[in-house]
Amino acid sequence: MQSAFAIQGAHTCRSARHAGRMKTMPRVPRYRWGARVYDLLSMERWVYRPGRCAAIDGLGLTAGARVLDVGCGTGLNLQYLVAAIGAAGEVVGVDASGAMLRQAHRRVDRNEWSNVTLIQGDAALLDTLVTGAFDAVLFTYSLSVIGDWREAWERAWTLLRSGGRVAVVDTSLPVGRWRLMSPLARLALFSGGVDASRQVWQQVLSDAQQTTHQVLTGGHVHVATGTKPSMTVRVAR
Ligand SMILES: C[S@@+](CC[C@H](N)C(=O)[O-])C[C@H]1O[C@@H](n2cnc3c(N)ncnc32)[C@H](O)[C@@H]1O
Repeated sequence: MQSAFAIQGAHTCRSARHAGRMKTMPRVPRYRWGARVYDLLSMERWVYRPGRCAAIDGLGLTAGARVLDVGCGTGLNLQYLVAAIGAAGEVVGVDASGAMLRQAHRRVDRNEWSNVTLIQGDAALLDTLVTGAFDAVLFTYSLSVIGDWREAWERAWTLLRSGGRVAVVDTSLPVGRWRLMSPLARLALFSGGVDASRQVWQQVLSDAQQTTHQVLTGGHVHVATGTKPSMTVRVAR
């Protein structure tokens, strides 16, 4: 069985980690210390899983698809992605945190998934970490955390094939009567290093076609999906 830190050209997890240490690996200490308890404390089941599942459903994955999971963390998306793409597909997960990836690695080993590759590196350098085009790109609760998130978006967008699907799920403060939960939400955003002011899902709505935008969990979770147009015309700002 191939390891979760599977070989992909020169970019194994190990080689990417050492290369990154030299210069460019962003520091993500909160994910280093929090990796072991992330799945337990993240209120996944009650708060974040619905957004994750809506985003993955929105990718419309079919058997054999190649999916890029950016800021994949402990691999909470993997069971859904692997189920959707089957044995013929491939998931490539990228994350800056070795500790988070170790948890993902355990998950892959436990489930004996042979079609998952995990790479440690900065999402702002995505195109130097992975090669080839992807049928789908997914950011779950990561784009609001990644330092140079616009660069990460641009590079992921470049790696997505024309006609491919993209999904971003991320957070903001709850609204309406859910505002009562704001202190808890603020704590979650603070402890995760989330910059909720970015409203990162807007990037899908502005760059993609056939977009959808769902607001879940009292306005705390936003899910945007879309398709990369065949030809992208960018207007300089
Ligand atoms: C809130 S967690 C989300 C993890 C996972 N996507 C999920 O849905 O549970 C944010 C993740 O982004 C990763 N991250 C932060 N900055 C990054 C960067 N520059 N490049 C790649 N990953 C990064 C963190 O290490 C962490 O695993």
